[in-house]
Amino acid sequence: MHLLTFQHLLWSAAFSLPGVVAIIEQHVFEAPAPQTHGILRRFVPDDSTSLIEVLRIAQAEELDIWQIGKDSVDIYSPPFSPSLPRALLSTQHSINNISVPELRPRLRHPNWDLSSLENTSFHAEFHRQTEVDAFMTDLARLHPDSVSILQLGHSGEEREMLGMKISTPNKTAKLGFIVLGPQHAREWVATSTALYLAHALLANASEPHSLAYLLDVYDFHIIPSPNPDGYEYTWEADRFWYKNRQIVGPGAKCIGIDMNRNWGDHWKPHAKYPLLWEGDDFKKKKKKKTEPADPCSHWYPGHRAFEAPEVNNLANYITKVNGVGKGAGKGGIAAFLDLRSYGQMLAAPYSYKCDKIPKDAEDQMEALLGAAQAGKSAYGTQFTTGTLCELLYRAPGNIIDYVYKAASIKYTYAAFLRDTGTYGFAIPPAWIRPVGEETGVMIEYLARFIARQRGIPL
Ligand SMILES: *[C@@H]1O[C@H](CO)[C@@H](O)[C@H](O)[C@H]1NC(C)=O
Ligand SMILES: *[C@@H]1O[C@H](CO)[C@@H](O)[C@H](O)[C@H]1NC(C)=O
Ligand SMILES: *[C@@H]1O[C@H](CO)[C@@H](O)[C@H](O)[C@H]1NC(C)=O
Ligand SMILES: *[C@@H]1O[C@H](CO)[C@@H](O)[C@H](O)[C@H]1NC(C)=O
Repeated sequence: MHLLTFQHLLWSAAFSLPGVVAIIEQHVFEAPAPQTHGILRRFVPDDSTSLIEVLRIAQAEELDIWQIGKDSVDIYSPPFSPSLPRALLSTQHSINNISVPELRPRLRHPNWDLSSLENTSFHAEFHRQTEVDAFMTDLARLHPDSVSILQLGHSGEEREMLGMKISTPNKTAKLGFIVLGPQHAREWVATSTALYLAHALLANASEPHSLAYLLDVYDFHIIPSPNPDGYEYTWEADRFWYKNRQIVGPGAKCIGIDMNRNWGDHWKPHAKYPLLWEGDDFKKKKKKKTEPADPCSHWYPGHRAFEAPEVNNLANYITKVNGVGKGAGKGGIAAFLDLRSYGQMLAAPYSYKCDKIPKDAEDQMEALLGAAQAGKSAYGTQFTTGTLCELLYRAPGNIIDYVYKAASIKYTYAAFLRDTGTYGFAIPPAWIRPVGEETGVMIEYLARFIARQRGIPL
């Protein structure tokens, strides 16, 4: 009893926000568990050869790479993991202590009051998959004229994939805007942001941060948790799980596909970090490059495009609402935003190649730079901009390449939300609202930019 109370206090101390104590009171913990700590190291080698060496070791040792920047690599070591190879430890790096709460709050009754965006307790914490689904059905109940629940199909573990179409009744045809949550399970802030945005669109225009006026011109399609199996697994077993949860590989001995390498645009069976294949001896290694990825690896792209049922369901939905190939564009979808974390980057196509420039690059970049400026205006958060390939690395089979090319949605982007590696994926719940607000401001900018281009007042 004492322990439970003590643990409760610890949790409150670590995560409470002024004014949200009442929400924290609602937690009932199954068992007291200590917080554990992992270590996130950012390696900043002085030259690209050393950077490649860090990546090579990280891959060989199957370390958990959280982020690859232009001149840095973030590598996470979970609690109790063996120490890193000496070659890595002697490379210049900084250290962050990442807390991994082992507490597993039970599912709570959905007693959040969603009638107001500013006053609800919902956005004060992250939510498990069933709560995400309950939030959507609650919004649909509160706003029956504006919200329809999308049933997108089933995940590998037979969860029903849900989304929301938010559309005010209006006879005039509107533009479409699709917002997708994270395909990578551990990117929780991308899910919370998708939920926050849905709520902001439905909030009474008199409330602060309401985005309701965008519905005069746009219909929003919001899919907050496109990898529900992986997402739930991050609550139950492994906070930093990445892929989906389908059984793959010979002998069915591996689990999970990297959904964001499984799309049918330049899909490839191999999935090495391409930095490793560039440089002087690129040609020599070219043959090796075609070896299929190990199905147990982090970035396994599947053995064919659209193998992940979740990816297939999303592609079917995009096809249904906008058409792909010859029929592309029929649904008037004007924008597509793939929410991700972390890194504070706004990225345009392409991902598969750095030297290939989309025909719409000029407009895409103009809108993106404006969105970054707008995003900064909210809380000073800086977003870097560029093509996805430039900002990260060359990776085929990415959703934004597919959506831009196959579905012809001109303004297709990936948005990497906060932070830049202080908390990484373990971003504190106190940041849910600020991240939601600044992302809302960026979406507003994009929506108005596109409307202006088409001569539609907004
Ligand atoms: C991380 O933080 C915890 C709690 O403050 C501390 O007990 C632990 O020693 C720290 N680990 C490192 C490597 O700094
Ligand atoms: C939120 O709560 C404040 C303080 O109680 C109240 O003044 C305000 O009207 C509420 N907002 C909504 C939209 O209910
Ligand atoms: C429909 O949308 C237009 C703007 O496109 C707006 O002026 C009008 O008030 C809307 N009508 C209804 C019934 O919402
Ligand atoms: C929005 O708020 C205003 C002012 O509080 C109120 O008059 C109006 O009825 C509300 N609209 C809806 C749709 O609830």
